[in-house]
Amino acid sequence: MEISHDTEGLPVKIAIRKPLDGHEHLRRDSMLKMVGPMVAKRFRAAIVMPNTVPPITTESQVCGYLKEIWQATGPDFLPLMTLYLTDTLEPSHVEALVGVGTVKGIKYYPRGLTTNSDSGVKNPSSLWTSGTRPYECLQALAEHGGVLLLHAADGFDENGVELDPFDQEKHFIEHTLPRIRDAHPKLKISVEHLSTKWGVEYLLKHGGPLLGCSLTAQHLLLDRRDWLRGGFHPQRFWWPIIQPTEHREALRVLAKADKPFVWLGSDSAPHPVEKKRADCCAGGVLMAHAGIELYVEAFENMGALDDRFERFASINGARFYGLGDSDETIELVREEWTVRHSPHIADGGTSKEVIPFRLGEKIRWKLVA
Ligand code: DOR
Ligand code: ZN
Repeated sequence: MEISHDTEGLPVKIAIRKPLDGHEHLRRDSMLKMVGPMVAKRFRAAIVMPNTVPPITTESQVCGYLKEIWQATGPDFLPLMTLYLTDTLEPSHVEALVGVGTVKGIKYYPRGLTTNSDSGVKNPSSLWTSGTRPYECLQALAEHGGVLLLHAADGFDENGVELDPFDQEKHFIEHTLPRIRDAHPKLKISVEHLSTKWGVEYLLKHGGPLLGCSLTAQHLLLDRRDWLRGGFHPQRFWWPIIQPTEHREALRVLAKADKPFVWLGSDSAPHPVEKKRADCCAGGVLMAHAGIELYVEAFENMGALDDRFERFASINGARFYGLGDSDETIELVREEWTVRHSPHIADGGTSKEVIPFRLGEKIRWKLVA
């Protein structure tokens, strides 16, 4: 990473290899047209989440989606596709698609615990129980070197009692993840958007070439106080929900620790405003308009805006997913700007607002176009 300072020693400009976004909801149609260029400007590649409606489960869906993404981003951007793990996903599809590299991994969604997770796996035990479709899919995935991406949350404990949402990740890390790893010892696993100190402890102990995690800027920047200060802030609501400060601090420790198994995954997840201002507010917020800038801010706040940042943003995730280091670079300058406008998308003849993270607020770093 190249870094320039002003006369007072304040960093004012950085250049990093063009990063990889390890977790991106590009959506489809007009939302994709809006988000795609934002992402391609900042990232060379992204792991594309499959929880579109309908979810991505077949070869023809993957190919159709890829084509649509390239129309929105241009051909230089590299979409790294994933399949949505359902209770009926075909192991032969996994074999075929991961085997030739069209698909990089499979995303596990616990049914009902996050946005567009209705088709997710009903019973997490099918991940480690031989004879079930999800188990066979993970076997095929491991066989072909693909990655299992985990939405690391459980809805219920062993007695069938519904878990508190603040304990969903804890339970998964303590009960579900070890069982998956035991059942599939050769499988590469990425714990997505790690959000708790329990997850951090586990990763620090077990992280390595077969087990890594992505971190979002929002989980590094905010804690539960920011979410509920003066009332509920829908633009700070996503799954996994933000935890109390001690968890944010643990995530910062992990981000600063310069581990090769920790990388950037923005979890930009845009929704039209009516889904956010609904009786049941949808989890997920548009981050792509500042998809790298927010991380620079987070790393600067942590006192880690140095080579560690480039490894986190541009090297670690890329290597985990089998990519070489990028020759392209991007530059950012210290130049405060205000998120002034909500993008609009065309939907069924009407124009819909998509409120971006930090609307009306300042962002400290700016991408050099
Ligand atoms: O907040 C979230 N939104 N978390 C997820 O896991 C899914 C995402 C979405 O698709 O909107
Ligand atoms: Zn996500």
